[in-house]
Amino acid sequence: MKRLFGIAAALLAMGTLAAAAFAGPSYDADGRIVIPENVDRWPTVGTTYALSYEGDGGTTLNSVRLDPESYDAFVKTGVFPVGATFALEVRTPLTEVMPAKGGKTQGGVVGRSLHVKDEKAGPGTWTFYGPGAKVGAAIPRSQACYACHQEHAGATDTVFMQFYPTLKEARERAAAAAKN
Ligand code: HEC
Repeated sequence: MKRLFGIAAALLAMGTLAAAAFAGPSYDADGRIVIPENVDRWPTVGTTYALSYEGDGGTTLNSVRLDPESYDAFVKTGVFPVGATFALEVRTPLTEVMPAKGGKTQGGVVGRSLHVKDEKAGPGTWTFYGPGAKVGAAIPRSQACYACHQEHAGATDTVFMQFYPTLKEARERAAAAAKN
C-alpha cells in the first residue's frame, strides 16, 4: 500500500512537472504563434530602461524572458536549441509610486513580441511574432527587425546577448569548458 502511494506521488510529481514545462512553440491554423500562458514564469534574462535603438527616444522599461527549457539547455551548451523562444515585454515607466521619492518602476504593457528559433525559413533561422495577447502573427522578413538583429547580433544567433548578462556569462563558461 505504501508503495502504491509512493508510485502515485511520483506520477503526480511528473504530471506537475509536465504541466509546468514548455514543449516548444505551437501555432494556429493561420500560422500565428500561440502565446504561451505562463510567460510570466519564464526566467528574465535582461532588463533595460530607455534603451533607444530606433531613434524614437522612448523611455520604456523592457524585460526579456527566455523559455525555461531553452534557458537550461543554453546554460549547459552555450547553444540555443530549436524552439527557443524569447519574449520581449515593453512597459511604460511610472514615477513616484508611494513610498518612492525618485526612480521609476514598471507601469502597463505597451508592447510584446516573440523571437523564436523555429526554422521556418531554413535550418537555424528565427522568426519574430507579435504583437498580441493570445496569438501573434509572424512579422514579414522584409521588416527592419530582421536586418538590425542580423547586423548587430548576427554572431550570437541574432539574439541581443550583449543585453543579457547571465546568458553572456553562460556562453563564455560553455566555450571555456569546450576548450578543456
Ligand atoms: C535598430 C535595431 C533593432 C530593430 C530594428 C529591432 N530590434 Fe529587437 N532588439 C534590439 C535590441 C538592442 C534588443 C535588446 C534589448 C531590449 O530591447 O530590451 C532587442 C531585443 C528584441 C527581442 C528580445 C530577444 C532578442 O532577440 O534579443 C525581441 C523579441 C525583439 N527585439 C523583437 C523585435 C521586433 C519584433 C522588431 C521589429 C518590429 C525588432 N525587434 C526590431 C534591436 C532592434
